[in-house]
Amino acid sequence: MRRFLTDRARRAVAASLRGATRPAAPSPAPAAALSRPSPSAPSAMAAYMARAMSTSAAGTPPVSLDTINPKVLEFKYAVRGEIVTHAQNLEQELHKNPESLPFDEILYCNIGNPHSLGQQPVTFFREVLSLCDHPALLDKSETHALYSSDAIERAWQILEKIPGRATGAYSHSQGVKGLRDEIAAGIAARDGFHASGDNIFLTDGASPAVHMMMQLLIRSEKDGILCPLPQYPLYSASIALHGGSFVPYFLDEETGWGLEVDELKKQVDEARSKGITVRALVVINPGNPTGQVLAEENQKKIVEFCKNEGLVLLADEVYQENIYVEDKQFHSFKKIARSMGYTDDDLPLVSFQSVSKGYYGECGKRGGYMEVTGFNADVREQIYKVASVNLCSNISGQILSSLIMNPPKVSISCMELFQSGIVMAPI
Ligand SMILES: Cc1ncc(COP(=O)(O)O)c(C=O)c1O
Repeated sequence: MRRFLTDRARRAVAASLRGATRPAAPSPAPAAALSRPSPSAPSAMAAYMARAMSTSAAGTPPVSLDTINPKVLEFKYAVRGEIVTHAQNLEQELHKNPESLPFDEILYCNIGNPHSLGQQPVTFFREVLSLCDHPALLDKSETHALYSSDAIERAWQILEKIPGRATGAYSHSQGVKGLRDEIAAGIAARDGFHASGDNIFLTDGASPAVHMMMQLLIRSEKDGILCPLPQYPLYSASIALHGGSFVPYFLDEETGWGLEVDELKKQVDEARSKGITVRALVVINPGNPTGQVLAEENQKKIVEFCKNEGLVLLADEVYQENIYVEDKQFHSFKKIARSMGYTDDDLPLVSFQSVSKGYYGECGKRGGYMEVTGFNADVREQIYKVASVNLCSNISGQILSSLIMNPPKVSISCMELFQSGIVMAPI
C-alpha cells in the first residue's frame, strides 16, 4: 500500500514537472543555465528546479529583505535578540576552545527559563505526563513500585478524558474538553466564581494566545493596544507583526511600579487625538519585568476604566504563582470584575495563563490557555476559527495545563513530598 502511494506520488510529481512551463525570462537568461533537461535524468532535473527557484527572472533572488513582509523586518524581540545571539557565539567559541574566554559557562537569564538553570521538574507532573504518553505502563505491576499511586490514579483520570486515550491524536481545536473542564473547575476554585470549559482555549504557551487576540483585534495601524512600559516584548512584537499601533502607558517606579488610571486615560486620549482607535488594554499582573502585584482596589479601577472606555481587557496572569512577599495576593481580573457585579455581558476579558512560569516553570512543554469571556457568540466563533488554523495545541502541554490548575490535594499521598520540596528531586 505504502509502495503504491509512493509510486503514485512519484508519477504525479513527474507529470507536474513535465507540464511545468519554463519560467518567463524577460532579460535573456543564459540558455544553458535554465534549459530544461529531460525528466528521465532526475539529478539534472533537480538541479534545474533548484536554479529556477533560487533565481528570479531578473537574476535576483526571489526573496530578499526588500521583498519580505515589512512587518517582519520591523518588529523586534529583544529576549531573543542581538545580546542572546552574541552569547550563543561566545558559547560556541568556549566549546571549541575552553581557554579562549575568561569564563567557562554562560547562564542565559534573558528570559525566565528555570529548568535551563537547573530547576528540577515537579515529579508528580512528570509522572502523570509519562504515564499518559505510554499508557501500557499502567498495566504493568512494576509501575506501582516506580510511580506514586496518586500519579497513576490521575493518569487514568486524564486518559479517560482523552478520546481513544490517544495523546498522539489531534484534539478539539480549543483543546480536550475534559481537560478544559478541569481547568475551569480550577479557575472557579481559585476565584470563587463560575468558569466554563467552553471559554477555555488551550494553547502552546501564552504567546500564541496573545498572537491570536492581536490577530483578532488589529485591523490596521489605526488600531492601538495599550501596553505597559516597561513591558515584556511579546506585546510590542505581536502588535507590530499584526500591523497595529503600540500605545504605551508608563508604570510608576516611585510607587513600586504602580499602574495609575490617570496615566491610562492620558495615553488613551493622546492616541485618540492622533486618530487611533484604542481596542484593548494589556495588563501584566503580577508584572514582568517589574514584579508588581496590583492591589484589589487598583484592579477595580482598571476594570471600571475598560468598561467606560469600551476596551477589551487582556490580562496576562502567567505569573500568578510568582509572588514572593507576604502581604501581596494575586486576584484574577475575572474575579475582580465578577466581584464588582460585571457579567459576561459587560466586559470582554481575556486571561492568559501558562505552564512556563510559577513553581513549575515548564517552558519547554509549551502549555497554556486563555479564558475568553464577554464576547458575543459570533465573535467567539471567529476566535474558534483562528484557533482551529493551528488544529490544536500539543497534548502534553494540555495535560500539564490541567495539572497546574488542579495540583495534588493535601489529602493525597504525594502531597507531603510535594510540599516538602522533595518532589523537586530529579526524576
Ligand atoms: C509576561 C509574560 N507573558 C507571556 C510570556 C510567554 O510565556 P509562554 O512561554 O507561555 O509563551 C512570558 C514569558 O516570559 C511573560 O513573561
